[in-house]
Amino acid sequence: MARGREGEERKMVLGKYELGRLLGQGTFAKVYYARDLSAGGGSVAIKMIDKARLRRTEGMMEQLRREISIMRMVRHPNVVGIREVLASRSSVFVVMEYARGGELFAKVVRGRLTEDHARRYFQQLVAAVGFCHRRGISHRDLKPENLLLDEEGQLKVTDFGLAALPEQLRHDGLLHTQCGTPAYVAPEVLRKRGYDGARADLWSCGVVLYVLLCGFLPFQHDNCAKMYQKIFKAEYQMPPWVSCDARRLIARLLVVDPAKRISIPEIMRTPWFRKGFVPPVPSPPVSPKKWLDEDDGGVLLDGSEDNSSSNSGSMSPRTCNAFQLISSMSSGFDLSGLFESEQKAATVFTSRAPAATVVEKLEAVGRALGFEVARGKGWRVRMEAKADGTNGRLAVTAEVLEVAAGVAVVEFAHDAGDALDFNNFCAEDVRPGLADIVWAWQGDSPPMPAAVVGCA
Ligand code: ADE
Repeated sequence: MARGREGEERKMVLGKYELGRLLGQGTFAKVYYARDLSAGGGSVAIKMIDKARLRRTEGMMEQLRREISIMRMVRHPNVVGIREVLASRSSVFVVMEYARGGELFAKVVRGRLTEDHARRYFQQLVAAVGFCHRRGISHRDLKPENLLLDEEGQLKVTDFGLAALPEQLRHDGLLHTQCGTPAYVAPEVLRKRGYDGARADLWSCGVVLYVLLCGFLPFQHDNCAKMYQKIFKAEYQMPPWVSCDARRLIARLLVVDPAKRISIPEIMRTPWFRKGFVPPVPSPPVSPKKWLDEDDGGVLLDGSEDNSSSNSGSMSPRTCNAFQLISSMSSGFDLSGLFESEQKAATVFTSRAPAATVVEKLEAVGRALGFEVARGKGWRVRMEAKADGTNGRLAVTAEVLEVAAGVAVVEFAHDAGDALDFNNFCAEDVRPGLADIVWAWQGDSPPMPAAVVGCA
């Protein structure tokens, strides 16, 4: 931290946040501790992503947009919550809940946990992962760095969505020469022949449980290839202190064939898991409106990180939200409408139909509603009303993002016309026609009981 003339520490200020120490660092992002200076503020963690790197790296912009959409959909006591997204000319900042207890594995490094402690963390991990799977979201990168603890010792899963990065990014980034990270990855993911993200998550949960109970990794070798061989055969030793019930559960998680791997409802029925399990109560989903209210309009940056006032585009970096800035860097498709203040209705839904089917359905529904329909780049459908409404001609773009095998997230963006018309379009008009492909609208309660959906 820089020191001023009188030796006092000069802290970097980002809007209402005063940045503190570095908490963690990845290939594309750094996470800092920060203090919210507004009344009732408290601590937050801010992930800072370098926009130049985002621009340079194919697929990263899309990935960040997807990650933020996913984080907004996941509000659970055992998942690190997102507060807001800010941007400067050079960086995007994702403001998150701060997990004061740090990484769970800092504890394990000091020695294995008692079975009761390991169970408690595992119960919380499975509760969080199950909650996400029921919303069609798989983590795909469950590993020690992504399991944090809050001040009460509650587990918090972080970085949902990052694992959806294209394969080459993951191998060019954190994973490339490290044997440590693939140690948590399911064999079907390593084989690169396509995989079900939810089932792959459960393998990783099995590795995590093993590490908590044993204090070391199940699949380890100095030589990466040999470690992979062990993973492909699920070849591991079980130390004598692990109880029979815990062994049995691990053996059902670390199953090479994902189709035969235990599911979340099955895990929850095992005697080992059930002991003392109190299901956490998820907080109600936060609507985009509430989200924007919380962040003072969602558009701030005092430029302290980047004081240059010059701006070649039509948007000022001081008055743009992250989505406008990310969108302005990417070609053609502007998602900024998703986060603007006029938005009230949920504009996001998940679907289990293949992306191509979702796109066809959107086109059919658009036509049935009397819109001109055109397919855009990627999985996008643009719909434009044939006549002017209250405030010009309504135009909407729907973008379909495949976030996991067989799971799509669909986002509607308001391109033109009246905000209220757009709101009605999302809240009412479009819904009946889409009913047979919608799994859940953002903000709705889970579509089916956990026991039915599960994850496997
Ligand atoms: N490291 C990475 N993310 C964090 C968070 N949200 N809280 C604490 N430490 C972190």
